[in-house]
Amino acid sequence: MILASQAAPNALLGELTPPGDKSISHRALIFSCLAQGTSRIRGLLDSEDVNATANACRQLGMTARAEGGEWVLEGVGERGLQPPDGPLDMGNSGTAMRLLAGVLAAQPFDSELTGDASLNRRPMKRIVAPLSLMGACIETAAGGTPPLRISGRPDLRGIDYESPIASAQVKSCLLLAGLYARGRTTVQEPLRSRNHTELMLPAFGVPLVGNCGVTGGSRLSGTSLQVPADSSSAAFFMVAAALVPGSDLLLRDVGLNETRDGIVHVLNAMGADLTIRDRRRFGGEAVGDIRIRYAGRLKAVDIAPDRVPSLIDELPVILALAAAAEGTTRLRGAAELRVKESDRLSVMARGLETLGVSLREYPDGLDVAGGPISGGRVDGAGDHRCAMSFCVLGQAAAAAVTVSGCENIDTSYPGFVADLTSVGGVVKT
Ligand code: S3P
Repeated sequence: MILASQAAPNALLGELTPPGDKSISHRALIFSCLAQGTSRIRGLLDSEDVNATANACRQLGMTARAEGGEWVLEGVGERGLQPPDGPLDMGNSGTAMRLLAGVLAAQPFDSELTGDASLNRRPMKRIVAPLSLMGACIETAAGGTPPLRISGRPDLRGIDYESPIASAQVKSCLLLAGLYARGRTTVQEPLRSRNHTELMLPAFGVPLVGNCGVTGGSRLSGTSLQVPADSSSAAFFMVAAALVPGSDLLLRDVGLNETRDGIVHVLNAMGADLTIRDRRRFGGEAVGDIRIRYAGRLKAVDIAPDRVPSLIDELPVILALAAAAEGTTRLRGAAELRVKESDRLSVMARGLETLGVSLREYPDGLDVAGGPISGGRVDGAGDHRCAMSFCVLGQAAAAAVTVSGCENIDTSYPGFVADLTSVGGVVKT
């Protein structure tokens, strides 16, 4: 339980470097495991989700040691994975499960992937169906949820897949399986999802086929990478500074990949005072330092469906921001939020209503009428991003906001409370 108290708003001042990008960290570990030779990774996120991937990679044969601020990972090569001793536990992480399923489907051994109660409710048909087209053999629980019982099939065939959903997890799963398949594997999606896999594969020596494809039998070789700070974690501080009068924050080394930067566009459209300095690249990934200053009450915005993939994980905190803005914010095309770590549309709607916000819920979105935020007790429902969003909104509330269901904040941002407190946020645990 966290008490995000705000009797008198405390300006958020100073600077911080948010922790490493979660999506990029998962990929860096998995690709390093599959590579021949040594990889050196700086800035890897140390969180429960990423640790689930690291543990799975260790069970598959990778060795890892910390050395002078970086992780040194010894890969086993694509064909060198060892059968795990028992089921691999992916904890709360959909990315870990879906990406590793692509690798394990192609191995000459059987395996099982499982997770916590939340992950074991999440849909896996979206990967099982296309992997089956490639010749994979995967059993799910009734309803298409985990655990995944994978009978390894080293003779997969490549496919050209038109995905019905924009999902980087589906895309990355298939590209990983495609590394082992006969011929080429390509993926098209209705809207562009995050492209970290496509950017990272060439760094490990794998040429892409077109924008989003691989040729079976491509070899990965160890490399050195620096992981940018996670824009999805930075988002909580961008919104906090936009909400609390007098705030002025500098967020360093933040990932600005164009498939992830929707929050910057939304904040600008709402009238925030946000500037980006020192744009540069960490390998293929764009990064920069973001300065954000309080600029008065922001204006509501319409978030159209085609924007959703570029800010999918930031939507809970954007909804929190909308709750304090002037006018009604309309979000549509975001049905995917209902199958994340929680049903995020419902969890955010219930919490915001408790704090006195008027809203209307749709199957694929919300209308949120901005107004004053009262105090109250809300439930983060064990979803890290919803819990942190309520803590941020509590910084601007008229009375204390108490947030329960915060235990999973550690899945993506173990230092969240310490970082928020370090810039003047009011949080008691
Ligand atoms: C992720 C992709 C997104 C995102 C998730 C991380 C990834 O999910 O919501 O937090 O690392 O590939 P989908 O691919 O299901 O949209």
